[in-house]
Amino acid sequence: MILTRKSIKGRLFTLLLILQSALVVTGGAVRLTGSGLGCPTWPECTPGSYTPVPNQAEGQLHAWIEFGNRLLTFALLLVALIAVFIAVKISKDLTNRSEIRSLAIGQILGIFGQGILGGITVLTQLHPATVALHLLLSMLLISGAASLRFAMVGIATQSVDSNTSILLRAQVIVTAIILIIGSIVTGSGPHAGDDETVRFGFDPQAVSVLHAEFVIVLSVITLIMWLFNRKNKGLIYKRNNILLLVILFQGGIGYVQYFNGLPELLVGFHLLGSTLTWIAVWSLFKTANIKLLKGVRS
Ligand code: HEM
Repeated sequence: MILTRKSIKGRLFTLLLILQSALVVTGGAVRLTGSGLGCPTWPECTPGSYTPVPNQAEGQLHAWIEFGNRLLTFALLLVALIAVFIAVKISKDLTNRSEIRSLAIGQILGIFGQGILGGITVLTQLHPATVALHLLLSMLLISGAASLRFAMVGIATQSVDSNTSILLRAQVIVTAIILIIGSIVTGSGPHAGDDETVRFGFDPQAVSVLHAEFVIVLSVITLIMWLFNRKNKGLIYKRNNILLLVILFQGGIGYVQYFNGLPELLVGFHLLGSTLTWIAVWSLFKTANIKLLKGVRS
């Protein structure tokens, strides 16, 4: 641990994680409400004004949703730049400085990567592959921001046996697969880009079922983890319980939206739940202080 959690600098790394996560939800809100052109110009929202104006042709709701997303992106970039500055400065004499610096610089590169992907998304008229990559890069940036935060403010860890470490790795890998298939489900259904956007062409029902089957696999792994760790009731057990609750919440929303014609509000909550699931899995994994793959930093 280099910084205390409650110090201003420590809180900045928490804010970075929150902003990365919030952007997934606001980006989803832009897509789900069809507000992508709520601000038709850039950097101005509408010709002559940086903020939405009353009676804007695109409608107030669309304009403010798109403007809010732009504001958040700007705030994220600012916070990420300050975080890199602090991380590079503070880690100067530390043995893990290269890890801290790569994580910090990875945030900036990732944010620029999102900007480029955003441009390609518009050029390809919201092709589902670029929309999916946008979401998956965000998830990568969220785990990067979480790892950076743990490196700066610390995380309580617990040593684990080989069975638990296999289960922890499996949870991360299966969740990543769930996220990838989830984005394919979206790209095959009604909420991919807009009405005219091309779709992946998969049967939405079949990919939804596959998506839910991997969720069942994750639930079984997480229950086995509960069984293995229920006697010691350590940190892994506690954080695994949190994950179980999050999966229950997220899986519940998944089924309800599936059987009710995918209402936008529920789909928005499902996006929020995806972010929370990924953070819960990643935090649990980091508790064990192991590597995801042999020789690869995480
Ligand atoms: C751990 C649990 C789950 C996670 C982490 C998860 C994650 C995701 C993600 C990342 C997406 C893509 C969101 C987007 O691109 O906007 C998605 C979409 C979707 N998920 Fe899940 N999901 C979970 C459980 C479920 C379950 C149990 C179902 C039940 C069938 C389900 C049904 C769907 C459907 C129908 C979509 C497409 C929504 C749309 O068209 O906008 N999910 N999920």
